[in-house]
Amino acid sequence: MRARVFPDYEAMSAAVADVVARRLGEEPSSVFMLPTGITPLGMYRRLVEMHRSEGLSLADATFFNLDEYLGLAPDHRASYHVYMKENFYGLIDADAARVFVPDGTAPDPEAECERYEEAISEAGGIEVCVLGIGRNGHIGFNEPGAPFDSRTRIVELSESTRNINAADFEAERAPQRAITVGMATIFESREVLLLASGTNKAGAVAAAVEGDVSESVPASMLKSHPNAELFLDEDAASDLGRGVAG
Ligand code: F6R
Repeated sequence: MRARVFPDYEAMSAAVADVVARRLGEEPSSVFMLPTGITPLGMYRRLVEMHRSEGLSLADATFFNLDEYLGLAPDHRASYHVYMKENFYGLIDADAARVFVPDGTAPDPEAECERYEEAISEAGGIEVCVLGIGRNGHIGFNEPGAPFDSRTRIVELSESTRNINAADFEAERAPQRAITVGMATIFESREVLLLASGTNKAGAVAAAVEGDVSESVPASMLKSHPNAELFLDEDAASDLGRGVAG
């Protein structure tokens, strides 16, 4: 797993956006898997800018999101449907028929997970999977202990993840469960780009890069991936090479 370290968040975000734009240039109908959260906002901003001022078209691409809270309607302000619409899909020329976000209010959530996994297969699998990383090493909503052979499924969120994500929920608590794409689904992506910014990710990054490949640090799975790359700012890389990873 190669790690590229950039002087700051903006430089890191621009570099990831360039990779995405290059893949679109090579193959306009590429299939992407995308994250939500704070980290990818700079990449989305840059891609929107490229669309508006440099003629980048995303109309032939297919997009899958990594996860969604269980029980949140697609129009709930803290849902990942709303996040993606406001920060990306609603600002580019994405074709709504090729945009997929798990439905957190599907009447049969198990069937929704199966449907999602089938849609990924029908699209020919994921070409480029963009990930953030949790402070506990999670990827998607695959918390520590998530089996490496897992598929899209319903998961319990850890207390720490719910507390960190509480900021999106005002008076309510973050939901206890979510739908997430599985570890095996992520692993089968042809290319994986993991983004991390800030000192609060430094420990998770060091554990993933320098620790053992272990289900207790989900992101460590990417060390076995043939084509995974880390995009880090200097703060997120600050624990690398210090022998602090377990
Ligand atoms: C979100 C997701 C999560 C986040 C991670 C980091 O779709 O899959 O794994 O990428 O929790 O979140 P931020 O970027 O907000 O620190």
